[in-house]
Amino acid sequence: MYVNVAVLKETQPHERRVALTPSVVPKLIKLGAKLHLQSGAGDAIKLADAAFKDVAIMDDPIAMVHDADVVLAVQPPALAVIDAMKVGAILVCFVYAANQPELVQRLLEKKITCFAMERIPRISRAQAMDALSSQSALAGYYAVALGMTHLAGVLPKITSAAGVVGPAKVLVMGLGVAGLEAIATAQRLGAVVEGYDIRPATKEQALSLGATFVDTGVDATGKGGYARALTPEETTKVDAALTQHIQASDLIITTAAIPGKASPKLISKAQVAGMKAGAVIIDLSAEGGGNCEDTEPGKTIEVGGVTVVAPLNAPSRLGKDASELYAKNQYALLALMMKDNIITIDWTDEVIAKTALTHDGELCDAEAETEAKRPDDAKAKAAKPAKSPAQAA
Ligand SMILES: NC(=O)c1ccc[n+]([C@@H]2O[C@H](COP(=O)([O-])OP(=O)(O)OC[C@H]3O[C@@H](n4cnc5c(N)ncnc54)[C@H](O)[C@@H]3O)[C@@H](O)[C@H]2O)c1
Repeated sequence: MYVNVAVLKETQPHERRVALTPSVVPKLIKLGAKLHLQSGAGDAIKLADAAFKDVAIMDDPIAMVHDADVVLAVQPPALAVIDAMKVGAILVCFVYAANQPELVQRLLEKKITCFAMERIPRISRAQAMDALSSQSALAGYYAVALGMTHLAGVLPKITSAAGVVGPAKVLVMGLGVAGLEAIATAQRLGAVVEGYDIRPATKEQALSLGATFVDTGVDATGKGGYARALTPEETTKVDAALTQHIQASDLIITTAAIPGKASPKLISKAQVAGMKAGAVIIDLSAEGGGNCEDTEPGKTIEVGGVTVVAPLNAPSRLGKDASELYAKNQYALLALMMKDNIITIDWTDEVIAKTALTHDGELCDAEAETEAKRPDDAKAKAAKPAKSPAQAA
């Protein structure tokens, strides 16, 4: 007996990641997986099919998923792939159900048990599975590297016989996983770094990384360690406190997000107009519309003398390392449900219950269609223990 696992080649534009890497193959085989990989799945990161030892390479994704007990991917697969899956099979990938009503409908119709990677709870026990964190950390690093390529100056202080240049002033706005990694990276590269977040709890983290913290006197700490939206009065107060920091910066990296909402605007057009010529904004929140009023998601634009860069799917740009971490995140999740060559889902396990999006033709959470990321979702406890079959291959 074994569990048939199929790994898809990503099809969305600019997606370079793959849900399986060679280092994870033996781990999955040890759990009882028989692995199948769509041919060319690693092409975008120069990972040849031949690098995957003990994995069956298949050309046709439809034929591949037909017999699969578990299908692994990074992005949600095409609807035709869902239609070709076995009734009751398992799908593990990022979903963001609010953006995917048709896909969710198909998952329900095919009674697919779907585990949505963005729903992994942010608890200590699930850290090894937390793909939001692994991918955000890489995005934070990438933002600094990208910023450097757009700056016409250096980050550290460099002394030559002709004089001294640098250091650059870097402001990181939004100090979740990505923001903290951006601070750490900019610090390592010798910039003078300031951090800002609407949750004052982040101050200590910024200081511990060697940055200073911009205190606006507003606390918008929301549920589960996330931020809440600001009131108009709070926005005015924050803007007033931030303007001088924004306009003194050479490089600004923004990462602010509020679960289920559009990206909060942290930098107004007026503030950009007052920035230094040659300054650069890297807006990592482009998927949610961006943190800067001038941001055009997916584009690099010049506004006066300021360059505003808004990359989409930043982790994918570091596809090799992003795939490695993502594949390990998925392995850690699968290890909760694969043992002795069979799948046994323990619906009383908080991580399983909260990560499941659909099971046996039902949504595991009534609000799943409208909410993408809910770390302290108490309702997941209600996720149908009575209907939890052990699935054997
Ligand atoms: N325990 C764990 O295992 C674990 C793992 C990862 C993250 N977390 C926690 O989860 C939480 C969210 O992390 P994330 O990286 O997903 O965050 P996120 O991507 O949801 O948001 C990024 C940051 O933007 C900030 N933000 C939102 N609105 C803002 C505004 N108007 N102005 C300034 N900043 C604003 C948020 O406070 C957050 O720090 C954090 O508390 C983090 O510490 C816990």
